[in-house]
Amino acid sequence: MLTSKQNDSETASQAVPRHVAIIMDGNGRWAARRHLPRAAGHRQGVEAVRVIVRAASEMGIEYLTLYSFSSENWNRPPEEVNDLMGLLRLFIRRDLAELHRNGVNIRIIGDRAHLDPDLVKLIDEAETLTRANTRLRLIIAFNYGGKNEIASAMRRIAGEVEAGRLSAAEITPDTVSAYLDTAGIPDPDLVIRTSGEKRLSNFLIWQSAYSELLFDDVFWPDFTPEHLRAAIAEFNGRQRRFGAVPAGNGS
Ligand code: IPE
Ligand code: IPE
Ligand code: MG
Repeated sequence: MLTSKQNDSETASQAVPRHVAIIMDGNGRWAARRHLPRAAGHRQGVEAVRVIVRAASEMGIEYLTLYSFSSENWNRPPEEVNDLMGLLRLFIRRDLAELHRNGVNIRIIGDRAHLDPDLVKLIDEAETLTRANTRLRLIIAFNYGGKNEIASAMRRIAGEVEAGRLSAAEITPDTVSAYLDTAGIPDPDLVIRTSGEKRLSNFLIWQSAYSELLFDDVFWPDFTPEHLRAAIAEFNGRQRRFGAVPAGNGS
C-alpha cells in the first residue's frame, strides 16, 4: 500500500511504502574490508540505524522493521553474541529519549524469554515509554526467527482449541497473523536486504508472502538515506499483482 505523507521537501513527490522491512546484513564484511574486528562493523551498523530511522520518519514511512539479531545468530562466537546484545542496550540507552521526543513508537519482536533480564527490562521500558507515539512505528526484530514465531503462534492456537475457546475449523490465515509477534502490524510492502545475499534468513517468512524483495549490494554500515530512496523508487516502479490480473490486461 502506498501513502504519500509529504513532510520532507526532498521526498515531496515520492509516495512511500507503508511498511519497509530491512535485513541489515554485511557488518562483518564491512569491517573485514577495513582490517577491523567484526565488532567495529556492528558499531558502525548502529550508526546507520540511527540515520535510517530518522530518514524513514522524515520520508513518511509508517512502519520500519529492522532485523538486528536472528534466532540463528546464537551460533556465532559468544563474544560476538555479547557485542550484539550490548549494542541493543547501548542503542536503547543512548537513543530512547530522542526517539520518544520524535514520536517514534518502539516494539521489539522475537523471543525475549532467553535474554538477560536487564535487557528485557530496557526493552519493556522502551516499549512502555513510547507506547502512545504514532509518527513512526519502529519494530526491532531481536532474537527473532520466523519459524519460531510461527511455531509459538501454533502452540497458542492449539491451546485455545484444547481449552474449547476456538474450533479447528475456524482457523484462517488471519487467525495465524493475529497470534504472531507482528499482530496488528500490516505486512511489509518492501523487504530490503543489504550486502548482496539473496535470502530471507528466517525473517518475516509468513508476513512477506507478497512483499516486494529488493537486494542491494551495499554493506549495511554504508547504507544511507539515498540507498533507501533508490530502493523506494524501484519499489514504486514495480507492479504488485497479489495473484490477480493487472488492470487493463483483461480480454
Ligand atoms: C549483520 O551483519 C548483523 C547481524 C547479523 C547481527 P553480519 O554480522 O551478518 O555481517 P556479515 O554478513 O558477516 O558481513
Ligand atoms: C540475517 O543475517 C540476520 C540479521 C541481519 C540480523 P545473517 O548474516 O545472520 O544471515 P545468514 O547467516 O547469512 O543467512
Ligand atoms: Mg551476515
